[in-house]
Amino acid sequence: MTRHPLRRRLVWTVVALVLTVTATLALVSALVLRSSLYDQLDSRLLAAADRAKGSADPGGHGFGGPDEPHAVPGQAAGTVEVYAEDGQVGQAGYVDAAGEFQPLDDAQTAVLTALPCDGEIRVAALPGLGAFHAVCQPAGGGDSVVTAMSTADVAGTLRSYIGLEVGLAAAGVAIAAGAATVLVRRAMRPLDRVAEAARQVTELPLDRGEVDTIPRVPPALAAQRSEVGRVGAAFNRMIGHVETALSARHESEQQVRRFVADASHELRTPLASIRGYAELVRRSPDTVPPSAAHAIGRVEAEAGRMTGLVDDLLLLARLDAGRPLERAPVDLAALAVDAVADAHAAGPDHVWRLDLGPSPAPVLVCGDEGRLRQVLANLLGNARVHTPAGTTVWASCRVVGDEVVVEVRDDGPGIPADLRPRLFQRFSRADTARNRAGGSTGLGLAIAEAIVHAHGGTITVGSGGGATLTVRLPALTSDAQPAHGWRRGRPVALGS
Ligand SMILES: Nc1ncnc2c1ncn2[C@@H]1O[C@H](COP(=O)(O)OP(=O)(O)OP(=O)(O)O)[C@@H](O)[C@H]1O
Ligand SMILES: [Mg+2]
Repeated sequence: MTRHPLRRRLVWTVVALVLTVTATLALVSALVLRSSLYDQLDSRLLAAADRAKGSADPGGHGFGGPDEPHAVPGQAAGTVEVYAEDGQVGQAGYVDAAGEFQPLDDAQTAVLTALPCDGEIRVAALPGLGAFHAVCQPAGGGDSVVTAMSTADVAGTLRSYIGLEVGLAAAGVAIAAGAATVLVRRAMRPLDRVAEAARQVTELPLDRGEVDTIPRVPPALAAQRSEVGRVGAAFNRMIGHVETALSARHESEQQVRRFVADASHELRTPLASIRGYAELVRRSPDTVPPSAAHAIGRVEAEAGRMTGLVDDLLLLARLDAGRPLERAPVDLAALAVDAVADAHAAGPDHVWRLDLGPSPAPVLVCGDEGRLRQVLANLLGNARVHTPAGTTVWASCRVVGDEVVVEVRDDGPGIPADLRPRLFQRFSRADTARNRAGGSTGLGLAIAEAIVHAHGGTITVGSGGGATLTVRLPALTSDAQPAHGWRRGRPVALGS
């Protein structure tokens, strides 16, 4: 039952109830009518039997005697009279529609004379004449009189009554079904509005950015005192609660971002000073002993690494805040050529391959050249840093439909399966000796993903051997607009 909509179940219930009530009423009234009609027939039969008995003649003859057999006057059409003496039938006939006394044939007479002569009313089927109620009464001196009346009229009346009842019941059920359908539909229509509001809510991107107003059920509906009104009011209260919770969450996220951005920004100046002073000391080797010179070198290197980390954090905070990127046509093929050349210079022990198709042409997207360059550098840097020497790295860049697809693939050890689900999360990296040795923070792919998302694209990791990372970006359309728009969000003041 729960598989069917509530509306249909309600209509079916109404129809079933109307049908049950109508059928019970029809059955009871038909039984009452039947019993009353048969009672009337039997009292008419007994009156006719009394009249017939009063005119019984010795020798088994009735009214009119043996010469001119005749029914007793006053007998209704269809009344049967059989007179007998000591089992010998003297006169047997019935009153036809014209009031004439017609003789019964032997078979019909035999049925009636076979009845016990005790004054009890019995049912008898006369061949050719149908069903009768019959009564046999002793008339004294061995005489007996059987009187019978056809039940055809009673059966006919009952048939027409039942036919009428069935017709009325069918019309009643049809009217009830139609009315129930209309009324239930009208009563349930407001529920569709609630469902529509819920559907609109499911389409909102509640997982990110600032949540504007969430759709609600119309106030007029929610104010109704019906059950649907209560559902609507509860729905609106829930949406209000969700809205408050989401804006509180958004506000605290914004605070964290502002804090990270401000802290990163503030750290840059002291870091620049540390690097500057360290460099100063390193450039005058005579003034410091060799052991201190080594320590100063380490300070400079670590300060450089920390500057990179702080820059990454600042960039992520800015991307999270939805800070607008530059928008200009960028040739990704040219960027790929530069990035592979840089990677080759940084990793001469690897084999680098670049595939730009049979006839290289500009592969244009609309975006921020510096950031897109960073994505390619991160992917190629990973293929260099996280694979052993001798690994081959393939980079390709092509237009597929309305997308630009950039792929960086290598035949190295691949990305560990347990890392893949959280590969793009911040600070997630495999626990390898190479990573532990330092230089790996686990921010590169998180930044790449944030940049690609900010350009309305996607970045995915392949599941085969080696590592395959695929970036898809909306290709630049003829009107120089990005095909998928920009990530929503409000810029926040971060300083420069
Ligand atoms: N081509 C690859 N082959 C094998 N493992 C990879 C490859 N690319 C990424 N990984 C794994 O994914 C992890 C996350 O990479 P991600 O670029 O985000 O951070 P990172 O390279 O460790 O540090 P960062 O890029 O911030 O210096 C890496 O630590 C490494 O374990
Ligand atoms: Mg990396």
